[in-house]
Amino acid sequence: MTTHNELIRKATASIKQHYDRVQNSEWALQYHVAPPAFWMNDPNGFSFYKGEFHLFYQHYPYAPKWGPMHWGHAKSKDLVHWAHLPVAIAPSEDYDKDGCFSGSAIEKDGKLYLHYTGHTWTGDNPDVDLKQVQCVAVSEDGIHFTKLATNPVIENAPEGNIHPNHFRDPKVWENNGFYYSIIGSRTKDNVGQALLYRSDDLLQWEFMNVAVKGEGNQGTMWECPDLFPLNGKDILVISPQDVKQEGYLYQNHHQSGYMVGKLNYETGIFQHSDFHLLDYGFDFYAPQTMIDDQGRRILIAWMAMWESEMPEQKDNWAGAMTIPRELQLKDGKLFCTPVNELKKLRENEIHIHNVTIEGETSFTDISGNCCELQIAVNLRDANTFGLKLRVDEEESEATILSYDKREGFLTLDRNKSGKGPGGVRKAPLSLKNDELSLQILIDRSSVEIFANGGEIVMTSRIYPKQSSNNIIFYTGENEQMKLMELRKWNLKKSISISF
Ligand code: FRU
Repeated sequence: MTTHNELIRKATASIKQHYDRVQNSEWALQYHVAPPAFWMNDPNGFSFYKGEFHLFYQHYPYAPKWGPMHWGHAKSKDLVHWAHLPVAIAPSEDYDKDGCFSGSAIEKDGKLYLHYTGHTWTGDNPDVDLKQVQCVAVSEDGIHFTKLATNPVIENAPEGNIHPNHFRDPKVWENNGFYYSIIGSRTKDNVGQALLYRSDDLLQWEFMNVAVKGEGNQGTMWECPDLFPLNGKDILVISPQDVKQEGYLYQNHHQSGYMVGKLNYETGIFQHSDFHLLDYGFDFYAPQTMIDDQGRRILIAWMAMWESEMPEQKDNWAGAMTIPRELQLKDGKLFCTPVNELKKLRENEIHIHNVTIEGETSFTDISGNCCELQIAVNLRDANTFGLKLRVDEEESEATILSYDKREGFLTLDRNKSGKGPGGVRKAPLSLKNDELSLQILIDRSSVEIFANGGEIVMTSRIYPKQSSNNIIFYTGENEQMKLMELRKWNLKKSISISF
């Protein structure tokens, strides 16, 4: 059998060989972590180790589509400048031969431990013919990983109303001298749930309880659970599959959201409130968080969606990460804002203030395909705020963000965003004193919108022509909207390769 090291070398050589062409893709992202070549999905092992941030991800290094999963790897000193590293783990053993699925990382005694799911297919029906076990790989330098000889560390899903085969995505953390792992699961009758395990050494694990089980329309399988303390509460983040659409809610193929509550560390049961979406855009899935050396809770997600058309595949890559976002809990709701360090990318500031907008308006030098906008508007005398991004000369391409004060909804329309899938997404948002504030990060094929200090976030991939750079403000007919502040910066490239 090919050794793990040989598979790592082969995979790393494959991405290195294709890296240059991928960088020349018209949609190549400048400051988002995206695969150096070929396929990426979930963030994995997001952690801080020996003074650096490490971000791993689900990776297939031989084609721009999902295949036997490896863990790709990048690291950063500041969450902004990322360097790609050699592939970290590859499917090499009987227990993970069809994929090293999602998981997490934790430091113990100076070593970095990756916890991941070993996946094998056992027959032709991908829904039931699979075996998933929990495994560990360890590193002393954060780059080269060795799988434990004692893998798998959890060989079977527990007894009870727990599906024996769908058992994946361990997220490990430490609390009061013990380690805990929360693992994605479903019941035998297909209701999503999360399982809690405990260990005192990261190697031997004891099942504690079904921490939470879905109620009503909460999906058939919970992927990528993450449980962490924040502002005096515990937050459970989950990515449920097959939640049914309810009006403007749950229109994506799968969802990602959270519940606020409290984990009882004795019983292993999580008491919680309702499920809320984390992001109302088109492309946001399988988020994972970490706590950094300043005590911030930082989240990163896959900026794509299962079953979605990905036009960048023609250029030998697919998928990307969101920018890192800091989480805060305010009045029982999670707020997400871009981490402060991203300000380092800013250059060429343009500042405009106190302008009244009637009809359509654009401003000199307020344009771009890799930039940040900060906008504050007052809608006292207007019902509609409108903003067209990535607009071409004929206005045949435009990505349209609008807010309707009477309806109380923010809407993102990508029906004219160029190549790739279209569609409209809506998010409820109410204003205080008629004021709407927006922070918008645009990269060559993405847009991330943070409204009212991160109360609502909408993340999407878009595929306009690179020359579609114009930005147009508008308001409703016979209305006046006050643009109180408008700042725009170009953003620098911050991703490189270091092998
Ligand atoms: C979520 C997911 C995980 C799994 C991984 C496989 O997107 O389906 O549950 O571990 O992707 O790539």
